[in-house]
Amino acid sequence: SPITIAIDGPSGSGKSSVSKAVARTLGLAYLDTGAMYRALAWWCLERGTDLTDQAAVAQAARDLPLHVGTDPDAADVRVDGTDVTEAIRQTRISSQVSAVATNLDVRAELRRRQRELIDSLRAERGGVVVEGRDITTVVAPDADHRILVTASEQARLARRAAELHGGTAEEHLAATHDQIVRRDRDDATVSAFFEPADGVTGLDTSDLTFEQSVQAVLDLVTG
Ligand code: CDP
Repeated sequence: SPITIAIDGPSGSGKSSVSKAVARTLGLAYLDTGAMYRALAWWCLERGTDLTDQAAVAQAARDLPLHVGTDPDAADVRVDGTDVTEAIRQTRISSQVSAVATNLDVRAELRRRQRELIDSLRAERGGVVVEGRDITTVVAPDADHRILVTASEQARLARRAAELHGGTAEEHLAATHDQIVRRDRDDATVSAFFEPADGVTGLDTSDLTFEQSVQAVLDLVTG
């Protein structure tokens, strides 16, 4: 029978890489809900929509011509046919995405689309690993498995800093600190993702390697 695995967590917790590996191992589809918020932020910036104009951004969410691929090995995000897979990872998007993600009408629209996608992936692909900030609590509270991946702020910053290239380690840590800590604080005003909700299993990966984190999730899901 079809399976839904819901995985939430803050930035740098390892939830994305772990979710992809779990989907790959189990042969399931993978849905990156953060990419949907990022694609909306990209589209608003592209069209010159004022991110503080709540009604305009909500309308953009309803109109968004979005395609998100669900292959864990091939990220593929397109807006109106334009490949934005790389563009939505830019710092200008990361630093402004919370402005669209804290818009409650935006959340209602993207959650509706996410539930639709989950239903079709369960029917057509046998199941899906869905990751984000509000999957275990709001998007799929009835998922077969619900996991909140956490890590200390220090571990999260170190992981994000390690992804940057050029410059010193100290510069990387300083550059990521404001972005990560501020974004998590902004996001936390609309989704609680630092403490597992009732029935959600917390997995602290601060002292785990990537492989150990993946194994821990697989143990929870197959155990
Ligand atoms: O960079 P990171 O992997 O932490 O973030 P992401 O998963 O790509 O999500 C980008 C942004 O989308 C978050 O900072 C939130 O503002 C928003 N988001 C959300 O509000 N709800 C979700 N389920 C997923 C992402």
